[in-house]
Amino acid sequence: MKRVLVATGGGDCPGLNAVIRAIVKRAAQEKDWEVIGSIQSFDGILKEPTEIKILDDTAVKGIHYQGGTIIGTTTKGGPFAWPVKKSDGTWGSADRSDEMIRKLQYLGVDAVISIGGDGSQKISQQLYEKGLNIIGVPKTIDNDLMATDFTFGYQTAVQVCTEAVDKLKTTAASHNRIFILEAMGRDAGWIALSAAIAGGAEACLIPEIPYDINQVVKKLDSRFSKGKGFGIIVIAEGAMPKGGEALAEESIEVGNPNLKLGGAADRLLYELKEAGVEADIRTTVLGHLQRGGIPMAYDRVLATQFGVKAFEMVLEKKFGHMVASRHPEVVAVPLLDAIGKQNIVNPESNLVKTAKGVGICFGD
Ligand code: F6P
Repeated sequence: MKRVLVATGGGDCPGLNAVIRAIVKRAAQEKDWEVIGSIQSFDGILKEPTEIKILDDTAVKGIHYQGGTIIGTTTKGGPFAWPVKKSDGTWGSADRSDEMIRKLQYLGVDAVISIGGDGSQKISQQLYEKGLNIIGVPKTIDNDLMATDFTFGYQTAVQVCTEAVDKLKTTAASHNRIFILEAMGRDAGWIALSAAIAGGAEACLIPEIPYDINQVVKKLDSRFSKGKGFGIIVIAEGAMPKGGEALAEESIEVGNPNLKLGGAADRLLYELKEAGVEADIRTTVLGHLQRGGIPMAYDRVLATQFGVKAFEMVLEKKFGHMVASRHPEVVAVPLLDAIGKQNIVNPESNLVKTAKGVGICFGD
């Protein structure tokens, strides 16, 4: 029997379970393959005792519409930066990648499928360079991975954000208020941009287009006449004013290399008030509501396509590659093409032009 190990890494994302199910179902057609999952990304392999889960038909039954991941995930540590407590009580990190590869050999693992975002695929590439038979599957609600048209989970996040805009509109209109909705998107404003168009927001502020507060005020003023009116601004968590920076702080979680973003909506409220906006303003931070819950159909389909393709790439020994959507095909691309830089919104793109075409202000 040959073994393929599946790991889900980084922040969770609607559709992860649909990928796992598709890998298992496709592998079952080959008779001589067994699928196992490492619990909480590669931690399951690195931990003593090892934490793995047999992924068979029973384990994946009906999981395609469940949010989260049945094998858990983590944003901390990893084989190249395993957190280690030093004698003085502070934390350092150790490279345990060689040990992990040896353990995978000992477990009889012939190939690994790593489902994750930018950080996880950088780890995939490093492990590949060390000789591991690894294949990547792109995952992130932020849609900021290169070399693929879309990542699964993104459309679900956009839907959640759009529904929030829809809901805020009715309360904003009733009270003649301005609502600022903070969406996820640390480096890329895809979720905010799509939800602003779909929901019909007045302004959309994203990391790729630093905003001038006076332009935003001008837009809002045009929405109010004699104190009556309302406005919705969708702001990505990574947005910044011209000459400013995204609001972020170091994570206090041991082993988490990511900055923790937050406060973009509150800062904007303050700036609007300072600029003389008289209307009442409220903020709503959507946060992890965008990541949890059931994936919408589009993401289930894309996740299933990715899972089937990932296992077929194992059969073809297409190691060092990542599954990618290149409409209408799903193809294999070198991991290196995906991790070099991020897929951010191009201010000259059709989507931004479309938004401007229906009057959405970007503060530029
Ligand atoms: O990378 C995806 C993402 O959803 C970002 O938009 C957000 O900043 C981050 O994850 C939040 O991560 P955590 O779950 O660690 O707070």
